Amino acid sequence: MEKLIIKGGQKLKGKVKISGFKNSAVAILPATVLAGDKCVIDNLPHISDVQILAELLSELGADVKELDSNTLEIDTTKMEGCYASYEQAKELRASYYLLGAALGRFKKAKVAYPGGCSIGSRPIDQHIKGFEALGAKVTVEHGIISAEAEKLVGAEIYLDVVSVGATINIMLAAVMAEGTTIIENAAKEPHIVDMANFLNCMGANVKGAGTDIIKIKGVEKLGGCNHSVIPDQIEAGTYMIAAAAAGGDVIIDNVIPKHLEAITAKLKEMGVKVTENGDSIRIVSSKELKNISIKTLVYPGFPTDLQQPMSSLLTTARGTGIVAETIFEGRFKHVDELKRMGANIKVEGRIAVIEGVKGLTSATVSASDLRAGASLVIAGLMAEGETEIENVQYIDRGYEDLEAKLIGLGANVRREDRE
Ligand code: UD1
Repeated sequence: MEKLIIKGGQKLKGKVKISGFKNSAVAILPATVLAGDKCVIDNLPHISDVQILAELLSELGADVKELDSNTLEIDTTKMEGCYASYEQAKELRASYYLLGAALGRFKKAKVAYPGGCSIGSRPIDQHIKGFEALGAKVTVEHGIISAEAEKLVGAEIYLDVVSVGATINIMLAAVMAEGTTIIENAAKEPHIVDMANFLNCMGANVKGAGTDIIKIKGVEKLGGCNHSVIPDQIEAGTYMIAAAAAGGDVIIDNVIPKHLEAITAKLKEMGVKVTENGDSIRIVSSKELKNISIKTLVYPGFPTDLQQPMSSLLTTARGTGIVAETIFEGRFKHVDELKRMGANIKVEGRIAVIEGVKGLTSATVSASDLRAGASLVIAGLMAEGETEIENVQYIDRGYEDLEAKLIGLGANVRREDRE
C-alpha cells in the first residue's frame, strides 16, 4: 500500500501533456473482441485499469503484446467465447463492455457483475434492455450476467436514462446484428464518438455518434485496424483545476478544447484566466477566486467526474458555492476528507453547500474512489503543510504518471510505502 505526500503552497508553472482518455481506452480494448483479428491501439494511458483489461483479454484467449508503454497490439482471432469470472470482472466497471462485444461476435457472453468506483447504485438495466431488444436472452444469476441469442436483429432502442455505458454496450452488440439499430436518447460523450470511429475503422457502419440518435447498420464481419485514443478530458480538467487551485501559469497540452468547454466556462466564472490555443489550454490564476454553483449533467454539461476535483477548488473561493450532483448519488465521499483539512461543507442529499474558508490545512486523508482521490490531490496542493493521501491505488486507476506530471509543474509531491 502506498501513500502520496503533498507539501502544499507551491505555485504551478510550465506545461503538462495529457494522456489518452481512460474511459475511451477501457471501452475500446474490450471492443477489439469484435474484430476477430489484429488491432493496434495507441495513445493508451499507462494506468492500472488499462493493464487489468489487457491481462483480462489475454486470460480470455486474446494475444496481447505491449508494443510500447502506450500501445497495445491485440489479436482476438483465436478467442472462442467469453466468460469473465467474478475475480476478473470485479476490478473495474468497464468489464461490462465484454458483454456487448462478445454478444456481438459470438452471440453469447457471460460476465460477472462489474466492479468499479463506489459512487452510487450503478444499475445496468438499460444495457440489458438493449441486448434484449436485439433478440438476446439475458439472465442474471449468482452475480453472473449471461446473454445469448440465436441471431441478433437490429431494433429501435430508447434509453430511459442517458447512459454512456449502455450506449456503448448496445453499439457493440449491434454492429454485426441483422438490419438497422437506432439508439435514441443516446449519450453524447466524446468517447462515444471515439468508439464509433474505432468501430467504423474495423468496418462497421455507425452514424450519428455525438448526437442523441445513433444509427447502426449491421455488417457481416469486422476486421482489424489501428486506432489512436482521444485525449483524456477528465485528466485535462483535473490539471486545469489543479492549476487554478495552486495558482500559477500552466499550459495543458494535447487536449481537444471543445471537450473542455463546461470546465473552461466555470473556471472563467470564478475569475481564472483560461485561453485556448490550438490543442492546448493555458490557465493563469493569481487572484482570489469567486465561489460558484455547479450542476453535473451529461455531456456537454459539467462532467460528474470533475465534480469532486472542482469541489476542492470551491473550498477556499470567496462566498458560497453550491454543488448539485445529478448523476451519481454517492459521489460525496470526498467531503468528509476535505472537512478534515478545514473545509466548510454541508451535504444535503445530492447538494453540497460550500462556504469558502481562508485556507486549507494539511491532514492525513484517504481516497475512497478515483476522482475523490484527485480531489484530495488538489486539496493537498492548496493546503498549508504536508498532506498524506492514503489509498493511492484508486488514483493510479486513472491518472498516468501523476507525481511526475505534478513535479514537472513544480509541485512538491512524493510517494511512500505505507508502514
Ligand atoms: C461512465 C464513466 C464514468 C462517468 C459516467 C458518467 C466509464 C468507464 N465510466 O460510467 O467515469 O462518471 O459515465 O459520465 O466510461 N444508469 C441506469 N441504468 C443503466 C445505466 C446507467 O440507471 O443501465 C444510470 C446510472 O446509475 C447513472 C447514470 O445512468 O445515474 C449515468 O450512468 P452511465 O453514463 O451509464 O455511467 P457509466 O457508464 O457507469
